[in-house]
Amino acid sequence: MSKKTAEIRDLAIKRHDIDASFFQQTYNDIILAKKAYPFKIGRSLVMEDIEECLNNLPAGARILDLGSGTGHLTKWMAEKGFLAEGVEPSSNMIKNARTNFPDLRFTEGISSSLPVADSTFDFVISFEVFRYLDKDENQKSFEEVLRVLKPGGVFFFTQVNKYATDFYYPFYYLKKMIYGFTKTVYHYCFFTTPAEQEKMMLRAGYSQVKTIGRMASTIRIAYKFGKRFGDFYTKLIKMGYGNQKFIHSPLKAMSGHLVVIGKK
Ligand SMILES: C[S@@+](CC[C@H](N)C(=O)[O-])C[C@H]1O[C@@H](n2cnc3c(N)ncnc32)[C@H](O)[C@@H]1O
Repeated sequence: MSKKTAEIRDLAIKRHDIDASFFQQTYNDIILAKKAYPFKIGRSLVMEDIEECLNNLPAGARILDLGSGTGHLTKWMAEKGFLAEGVEPSSNMIKNARTNFPDLRFTEGISSSLPVADSTFDFVISFEVFRYLDKDENQKSFEEVLRVLKPGGVFFFTQVNKYATDFYYPFYYLKKMIYGFTKTVYHYCFFTTPAEQEKMMLRAGYSQVKTIGRMASTIRIAYKFGKRFGDFYTKLIKMGYGNQKFIHSPLKAMSGHLVVIGKK
């Protein structure tokens, strides 16, 4: 592994150690239906795709929530009757998860070297995790997840679209430059495309790969002008694009969340 890849991997853990209480608060806000509007909209759209995958699993299937953070998603899946557990490298995040949900198992570990035996899980999910790792670490992790999946098992994860119409790509580099001046710990972001993800997953050895774009990313810009404008704009978008699920449309590569689903 290159020094740069290892540095980015360590930064992802350090950043989430710092942000653990922010995430804890954000998930509580989501539960209490407060604030974090575009985050909430995007998340609920991706949750529809997760739910669709879960519906195809047998009752009691084993699920790994990889990069489980505060554990809220792990709990949501466990409540549906699955044997869900988490793997998480940030000690502050895992502390929150264990306090939030003492009935669930959260193990320390990273995506490219899982503390798990071969062919253990029916479903592995990583929501908003691989975006913090570079391409090499992503590739290595895809192979590692394949190892722990049962034959026919499914890997579901999200990425950040390079060409999302919220213009996060140029904005990220500007923000990173400013953070560089102030010497604050900023996060790394891996920007990618549906075509690149499909290629990487096939290279890792998955037999089938599907990518989906979710949420018109301009919604994120709209909420910068306040909740009322954001809500109004979101209504317009819903009229034009319904459930904002882009599979064959070019809007897939420009949407707010890129969902990748691979089958072993
Ligand atoms: C934005 S949070 C998302 C948490 C959770 N997946 C969710 O959506 O509710 C990203 C999580 O990925 C974890 N993470 C960072 N690097 C990781 C790695 N190499 N392997 C697994 N998880 C990692 C972070 O510590 C953090 O908890």
